[in-house]
Amino acid sequence: MFKVGIITSSDKGAAGEREDVSGAVIKEMIERKGYDVIRQVILPDEKDLLSDEMENMADNLGVELILTTGGTGFSKRDVTPEATIQVCERMAPGITEAIRYFSLQITRRAMLSRATAGIRNNTLIINLPGSPKAVRESLDFCLDSVHHGLEILTGRDSECARKED
Ligand code: MTE
Repeated sequence: MFKVGIITSSDKGAAGEREDVSGAVIKEMIERKGYDVIRQVILPDEKDLLSDEMENMADNLGVELILTTGGTGFSKRDVTPEATIQVCERMAPGITEAIRYFSLQITRRAMLSRATAGIRNNTLIINLPGSPKAVRESLDFCLDSVHHGLEILTGRDSECARKED
């Protein structure tokens, strides 16, 4: 099964002033699907710290999927998408566009998420918003398609044979 790294981007979480509920939600949901979470960290909203950890997970630990939570909004400290763009060789914006499209039916504020997704070598990186509710809704919606994308990315499946509409 695919190896996963989880990064929570939160100044308060990194300072120990806030519990990392969103990271825990990701871990629980992804493990229930059979994925193997091999590293989970909380970092302050600092672009270089975030991009260094993404590189570490992708290049040294060989995770196939990195899920981030937080830092996608409009606050001056929100830089997770910029850290993601910095380390990706190819962007995969369709994933986060689809999440926004779906989420807009739940809250108009979904338009305020600047989340992006992209690929670094064999690793897919996806930004999720910061709240546990948003994480749950977004992952529920995208995980099946993301799984198929990972099979293609890693060469476990070469075809996009359609099993759904
Ligand atoms: N997406 C879903 N599915 N559900 C939500 O409740 N909240 C939004 C949005 N996306 C939300 C959502 C809100 S209020 C904001 S400000 C943005 O995500 C950015 O969140 P972040 O800055 O915590 O990453």
